[in-house]
Amino acid sequence: MNIIKSIDEMKQWVATVRIAGETISFVPTMGFLHQGHLSLLDEGRKRGDKLVLSIFVNPTQFGQGEDFEDYPRGLEQDSQLAQQAGVDVIFAPEAKQMYPSGYATYVDVEGITNTLCGTSRPGHFRGVCTVVSKLFNIVQPHNAIFGSKDFQQLAVIKRMTLDLNLPVEIIGMPIFREADGLAMSSRNVYLSPDQRKQALVLSRSLQRAKEMVSSGETGCDVIIRQLKMLIEQQPDARIDYIQICHQLTLEDQTHVDADSVLLLAVYVGKPRLIDNGFLQAES
Ligand code: PAJ
Repeated sequence: MNIIKSIDEMKQWVATVRIAGETISFVPTMGFLHQGHLSLLDEGRKRGDKLVLSIFVNPTQFGQGEDFEDYPRGLEQDSQLAQQAGVDVIFAPEAKQMYPSGYATYVDVEGITNTLCGTSRPGHFRGVCTVVSKLFNIVQPHNAIFGSKDFQQLAVIKRMTLDLNLPVEIIGMPIFREADGLAMSSRNVYLSPDQRKQALVLSRSLQRAKEMVSSGETGCDVIIRQLKMLIEQQPDARIDYIQICHQLTLEDQTHVDADSVLLLAVYVGKPRLIDNGFLQAES
């Protein structure tokens, strides 16, 4: 396995692979790999001849006062995990190569970015779309694999890829969870043991909402009010948003139907955790 830091070197590797007629699967990440990331790598391994993993903590997707500096990093352990997962190349560029002085171009997806994480993290998706399109141009993958833990991110990337005619197939993968239900996240390391227990309120909320829908409740306000009460019982939890949206448009719904997805963002102590799940009522 190669670790490539230079953009030019990465492009050369890609050219050689493409000339040989081989396909490239790509998993973009910010590193500090966990099993959620590894599940994307497994899928990538199956779908392409070569597998590229990028590790880049992208400064442009973090707002002021967010955790860019504190974001967990660990290239050495990531390399070991990547090697075991059958990665051919880790692309780990420096920020000054990706955004040299004078850098001035950004990719903005409208509409579906004006809600959920787009509202609470202004500029976040602009940074995500900018870096993902740059990475696509450098790695030139045939397919790219994203997790649906970041449900809105996946929707935004699909929109961007379609709108800009990018020749990349976008593949979404299910949320990988700890045995007790907590969605895996690099940020979970910042939970104290007590907060780790409190963080289960996110997956429990999804469960509770599904139960309410199964027993006939379809009013989004009623469900959201219940979840708010449930979450507020946790001393370190602070709700960022609880929304029930249409899975494609991400518009808020008043009643649950077959397209409803519940999305949550909750601070538990310092880290901000997100989770989501379909509610699957009959329409
Ligand atoms: P990061 O948070 O490192 O996540 C990289 C990929 O792993 C994303 O597609 C994310 O949805 C997926 N992922 C994270 N936790 C997961 C879980 N528990 N189950 C399944 N998949 C999971 O998302 C980013 O990085 C960045 O925004 C990036 C796209 C790399 C652009 O900088």
